[in-house]
Parts: sequence; structure tokens; C-alpha cells
Amino acid sequence: MNHFLDIHTTDAADLRKIIDTARATKEARSGKPKAALDAELPLDGKMVALIFEKPSTRTRVSFDVGVRQMGGQTMVLSGADMQLGHGESIADTARVLSRYVDMIMIRTFEESTLLEMAEYATVPVINGLTNRTHPCQIMADILTFEEHRGPIAGKKVVWCGDGNNVAASFIHAAGQFGFDLTFAGPSQLDPEAVFINEARKKGVKIDIERNAEKAVAGADLIVADTWMSMHDSQSARERRHAMLRPYRVDRKLMGLANSDALFMHCLPAHRGEEVTNAVMDGPQSVIFDEAENRLHAQKAIMGWCVS
Ligand code: CP
Ligand code: NVA
Repeated sequence: MNHFLDIHTTDAADLRKIIDTARATKEARSGKPKAALDAELPLDGKMVALIFEKPSTRTRVSFDVGVRQMGGQTMVLSGADMQLGHGESIADTARVLSRYVDMIMIRTFEESTLLEMAEYATVPVINGLTNRTHPCQIMADILTFEEHRGPIAGKKVVWCGDGNNVAASFIHAAGQFGFDLTFAGPSQLDPEAVFINEARKKGVKIDIERNAEKAVAGADLIVADTWMSMHDSQSARERRHAMLRPYRVDRKLMGLANSDALFMHCLPAHRGEEVTNAVMDGPQSVIFDEAENRLHAQKAIMGWCVS
């Protein structure tokens, strides 16, 4: 049994296997109805708990559909409605849930909640986003890039905006998949130094560039995300927007990257803020392939977890 907690804590060979499996399974079920079962059913007879302490559309629906395609069943739980949200310890919750279900996916605030769940659960635990990282998203993004452009190794990825949880998982992925990453954003919103330093220690090329136009030169992929993550305080909104406006992805900025550069956004997007409609709906955008690939990547992750 394996937990899927983060990209940098998962073996690089396993990550590669997950991406390749996702691609093969996606191709094998091409054209089938969404509810059709896969040819192989690694979750047959299994029950998966999907716990949400924050809102979600993609993670919720893609995990739910994915489990069913793999032959399993789901229960979607709101953290606020569980005793977990009313003082029961994470350790006790993990031990109790492990008596009922075969796998747990959790979206939560503090990373410590995820780690404690994994420590005490006797079934696989999957990170469905914390304040610090969002590994399932980046697995879908790697799958998407490689479907469109081939191997991501050696490519240049530019992150524009807030050095948030999704950016952190991109930094982790740069090390594991061998691509270069440039962070373009204000110094106040840099990704956590520990992530950057750990990646650089492993020889990963992580650049920080305050000028967005310089940052995107030679880019194969430009990525943006909301300027206000779910855990950010609304009181910081104006200040953050003012700092982040120079990093909005528009057609002019896309035009400074390589001519075949892709644009990605994990969604939900705030059109007109971090990215313009012209880019979101433009020919370089692969945002809906990314959203679809959450399903395929996570199915491969779940298969690996129970393998
Ligand atoms: N990208 C992503 O995780 O979307 P949701 O918040 O809708 O799950
Ligand atoms: N950075 C965003 C990602 C949402 C999927 C957030 O944490 O709200």
C-alpha cells in the first residue's frame, strides 16, 4: 500500500509509471461512456472516502467518477459535518475510517492534518490539496503537457503570479521530471524558500525573475493560478492584487514565449485577473484537457496506491 502525499516524497520512477499508466488507460477507454467500467478494476469491491474541508468541483467529481470507473464506490464527506470539524482528533478519525473504507482522499487546510491522517490510517491516503501543495493537479498537468508536446524533461516552465500551493508542487515536479522552472512574481509572494532550496540542492534549475516579460522568454509552458487561494484572507485581497497585476498572463506575454508554448491553469480561474479571456480561450490554452486529465491521472494514482 502507498500513500500519495506529495510529488517530492514519491519515487520518480513511480511518478513516471503513474503518468504512463494514466495515458494508456485514458486511450483505452476513449469513446466509451463516462460511466463505463475500465477493462481492469483495481478498486473492485473497494470503498473510498473523499473528505473536503474546502470547496471543490474538479477534485470532487474527478475522484468520484474515477473510483466508479475502476469498480469501486465512494462516499463524499464534508469535513464540517464530521466530528473531525468539531474537535475529534485526526488520529482517531484516521483509525476509525480505516475500519470502514479502503482509501482516503482528503482536501484540507494544514499540511499537518494530511500527514497525521497518513500516519494513523492503515489504508492509503491521497493529498487532494493543502495550503502548501496540490500534487494531483500537477500530475494531471504533466500528463497534459506530454500529450501535446512530448516529454517534459528539459523544457522550460514559467509560473506567473503567486508562489502558492500549486506553484510548490510544480517546483517538486521540476526535480522529479527534470524540467526547468522560472517563478515570475513579486518577492513578497515567493514560493517557500525551503522548496526552492531543496530543489536547487538536487541540481534542479529554479530561477526567480521579477520581470514577467523577461521570465517568459524561451518558455514551453506558462502557468497561472488565482491570486487569492482558498486559505488566503480576504483582507489581503487589494494588496495582493496590486502586487500581482504585473504578472497577469495576456496575449502580449504569451507572444513573448516560444511560438508553440502552452498555457495552463488549474481552475477555477478569475478571468480578467490572473489571465485574460483571450489567453484562456486562445489556441495555446489546454485548460480543459488539464481538467479532464485530473480524472485519468488520479485513477493511475489510486491504482498505484493499492498496488
Ligand atoms: N483545480 C482544482 O483542484 O479544482 P477544484 O478546486 O474545483 O477541485
Ligand atoms: N491555489 C488554489 C488552487 C485551487 C485549486 C487554492 O488553493 O485555492
